[in-house]
Amino acid sequence: MTPSDVKATLSFSDGSASMDLPIYKGTIGPDVIDIRKLYAQTGKFTYDPGFLSTSSCNSTITYIDGDKGELLYRGYPIEQLAVNCDYLDTCYLLLYGDLPNESQRQDFHARVTNHTMVNEQMQFFLRGFRRDAHPMAIMTGLVGALSAFYHDSTDINNPQHREIAAIRLIAKMPTLVAMAYKYSAGQPYMYPKNDLSYAGNFMRMMFATPCEDYKVNPVIERALDRIFILHADHEQNASTSTVRLCGSSGTNPFAAIAAGVACLWGPAHGGANEACLNMLEEIQANGGVAKVGEFMEKVKDKNSGVKLMGFGHRVYKNYDPRAKLMRETCHEVLNELGLQNDPLFKLAMELEKIALEDDYFVARKLYPNVDFYSGIVQRAIGIPVQLFTAIFALARTVGWIAQLNEMIADPEYKIGRPRQLYVGAAQRDVKPLSER
Ligand code: SDX
Repeated sequence: MTPSDVKATLSFSDGSASMDLPIYKGTIGPDVIDIRKLYAQTGKFTYDPGFLSTSSCNSTITYIDGDKGELLYRGYPIEQLAVNCDYLDTCYLLLYGDLPNESQRQDFHARVTNHTMVNEQMQFFLRGFRRDAHPMAIMTGLVGALSAFYHDSTDINNPQHREIAAIRLIAKMPTLVAMAYKYSAGQPYMYPKNDLSYAGNFMRMMFATPCEDYKVNPVIERALDRIFILHADHEQNASTSTVRLCGSSGTNPFAAIAAGVACLWGPAHGGANEACLNMLEEIQANGGVAKVGEFMEKVKDKNSGVKLMGFGHRVYKNYDPRAKLMRETCHEVLNELGLQNDPLFKLAMELEKIALEDDYFVARKLYPNVDFYSGIVQRAIGIPVQLFTAIFALARTVGWIAQLNEMIADPEYKIGRPRQLYVGAAQRDVKPLSER
């Protein structure tokens, strides 16, 4: 952080002492006003529910420019990573700060590959769930349960423990997500195969059975790998902030990541891809493109509570760069599978066209986000809608871990403990029951 020459001066109209607040500059992006001494010097807190104007940390991992619609992982534009790298290269980049050379790449791929199996006991956790349990309920349980198996790597302050926990989590998430799917389908689990790519291995664990193996289609494999890259990290979003706050208590990495899984589940966050596809299917069932106008009127009517899922973003006030890349992937996958005329894709493009011209969306700078097209791609691949968010969690695990490790390695970090504006009852005495 570079101290700015400019200071912020806080003054009060009631004559209370004013206060100078230091300002820091980052490499790129908005400066920050350091309010760490505010309460001690003024007895006042700041107030920012939803953290619209609050930076919770300094970070070197991901940068988003919401106005320009730019996303950088460790300074590399997402558009270049999506074309020139694979997901495990991206994991290496997010964890260690730069892209691997050939030997580092081979070593990292080998280490992840050699940790893809889960302890045989893990399968017995699934038996406790109903077959129709939501995969995110299962994943929240399974990821937290991992901490019961790896006592050798639960000390988050030990760099070696953080390293092996990162490898285990990245390696095992596909296996766990595939197990959650197989459990709901009533099919036997498929073990990972070490001669497949990360995405190919996941697809085989999902779609192969003991009776019939699964031939990985390279176009689909590449599309899924790109979905993983696009979802890998995204600055201080709700689930990443949850992981940081959870990890700040010193809990083990598996528990902190399980907290991130739970937060991502929400429809305003990672659950939006499932909600978006359900929305498209509902419009399709009610008349399709012909009914889009009627649906959009509902979305614009505040009282309806209806939102255009997959649209809008706290940070992006321009097109989410990931949505553009996801739309390209959509075309590739649908063409490969002969689904060019997929009605839902056509419906999504019609919705996007109308929204981008409609003043309600233009005035609020609401554009498609990563979730708008990702559901269509995953559905075309044969992934059940309820599994979309679990796949988002699979991909985001590396971002959560990188952010958690960055926080723990920061000598300045403390346990997160926000304050409040108390608007409840003033102190009062308990009356005897007979007087209540
Ligand atoms: C992800 O933070 C991240 O980085 C998240 C993520 C990541 O990679 O981690 O990018 C992943 O979560 C993407 C977002 C997925 N969510 C959805 O697609 C759900 C639909 N979108 C909305 O719920 C909403 O846009 C949010 C939650 C994403 C952002 O909400 P904000 O920033 O709190 O904005 P807001 O709700 O205050 O909206 C501003 C205005 C409001 O109208 P007014 O009160 O000003 O009249 O825009 C409206 C909102 O009602 N609005 C929408 C809308 N999104 C916002 N109206 C209709 N449809 C929408 N989708």
